[in-house]
Amino acid sequence: MSAISTDLVTARGLRKRFGAREVLQDIDLSVSAGSITVILGTNGAGKTTLLRILGLLEPADEGTVAYDGIVPGVSTVTYDASTRNPTQDPHYLPLRRRMLLAFQHPAIFSSSVLSNVMYGLQLRGVSRAEAEERSMAALREVGIAERARQHASSLSGGEAARLSVARALALQPRLLFLDEPSASLDPYGTKLLEDLLLHMRDDLGMTAVVVTQDIFEARRVADQVAFLHEGRIIEQAPRDDFFTHPRDDRTRRFVAGELLV
Ligand SMILES: Nc1ncnc2c1ncn2[C@@H]1O[C@H](COP(=O)(O)OP(=O)(O)O)[C@@H](O)[C@H]1O
Ligand SMILES: [Mg+2]
Repeated sequence: MSAISTDLVTARGLRKRFGAREVLQDIDLSVSAGSITVILGTNGAGKTTLLRILGLLEPADEGTVAYDGIVPGVSTVTYDASTRNPTQDPHYLPLRRRMLLAFQHPAIFSSSVLSNVMYGLQLRGVSRAEAEERSMAALREVGIAERARQHASSLSGGEAARLSVARALALQPRLLFLDEPSASLDPYGTKLLEDLLLHMRDDLGMTAVVVTQDIFEARRVADQVAFLHEGRIIEQAPRDDFFTHPRDDRTRRFVAGELLV
């Protein structure tokens, strides 16, 4: 049996500098359609920066990212000195609208929980009534429907993380980026989140890129794992290969829980 996999996102040679610091170097990464790709790495490795570049929230300095089959006519972003910033260029707006990045610290608007979920739908032209219906359904799925009319700023960390997931369920973006989604969740919340992630992949056909420092979480949800270390992708492989036959010694040590210095 051969599975035909199509790459939805292909990054080649990405580089990113903050001032004199190179935080990402020569990044190659492939994300196949309908899969969950986990980017593993320690604090400061560059995970959030990479996710923000892939999600068109931040420009790279060099390299290309191809988005294949998401929006007709908008496929490749090339970064060089003459690039207009794709995070603001209206040409890329249809693409940006099919992607959602859920933050490590979710951005909460100063309004009710329900409005926070409805906002993205209304921005994309969904009627108020339909937006409300889809948002309430999503809040029920993540288990915070009883908080719908409450002010979003009054949510606990775990509830705010669920709010991020509810946004994703309501919007159903083609590409979902999750930045350390279980960082503020208890074990029950983590299980709920991981089950929802698998549901989004298996039943809603979504593709996800998930950043985490947790190798056990990667084992539970990943189809593909990429190890990002000091701004470089050390290794990308299907999950079982990654954990049982790491090719790079640094990957082997990271997976074994050793400190990399
Ligand atoms: N806006 C920024 N300005 C300057 N330095 C930044 C900025 N964002 C991130 N960095 C630096 O880039 C490096 C990678 O950060 P980040 O992508 O947040 O790593 P991670 O998410 O893996 O912890 C860190 O050293 C961080 O301090
Ligand atoms: Mg981060």
